[in-house]
Amino acid sequence: MSLINFIDIKSLGDSRGDLISLEENGNIPFSIKRVYYIFNTEQGVARGFHAHKALRQVAFCIAGQCEFILDDGKNRQTVLLDSPTKGILIEHMQWREMHNFSEGCILMVIASEHYDESDYIRDYEQFLREVNQ
Ligand code: TYD
Repeated sequence: MSLINFIDIKSLGDSRGDLISLEENGNIPFSIKRVYYIFNTEQGVARGFHAHKALRQVAFCIAGQCEFILDDGKNRQTVLLDSPTKGILIEHMQWREMHNFSEGCILMVIASEHYDESDYIRDYEQFLREVNQ
């Protein structure tokens, strides 16, 4: 599986503007249990810095942009997330970091599970041990 998997959503736009529809087990490749969004991020703040044992997510910048780093323990890649039509699929056991949030950025995340702190790995050395074992 490649590290960066974009999910391109076709806009149902017309002369009035754009419309995006997300459906579980359709253009979102899992059952949706939770949606959250990150906004009003202060300049210079970076977020994330964790992996999940089981959770799968798709993230979109529905306004503005940010840089997304994904790391599977062997490779690390940085991509720009800058469109409401372009999601990034974050698989379980992928370390993620978000940097360089633009002013007005709204990062919306679609998640496969309810919030569960015990699913997080927040220590990078622990992540490397678990992903490489
Ligand atoms: P965190 O996952 O650390 O955010 P980020 O990865 O963007 O840096 O979450 C920040 C806080 O919000 C933390 O105390 C956990 C809490 N939280 C919830 O209660 N529910 C949620 O769905 C999420 C994503 C976070």
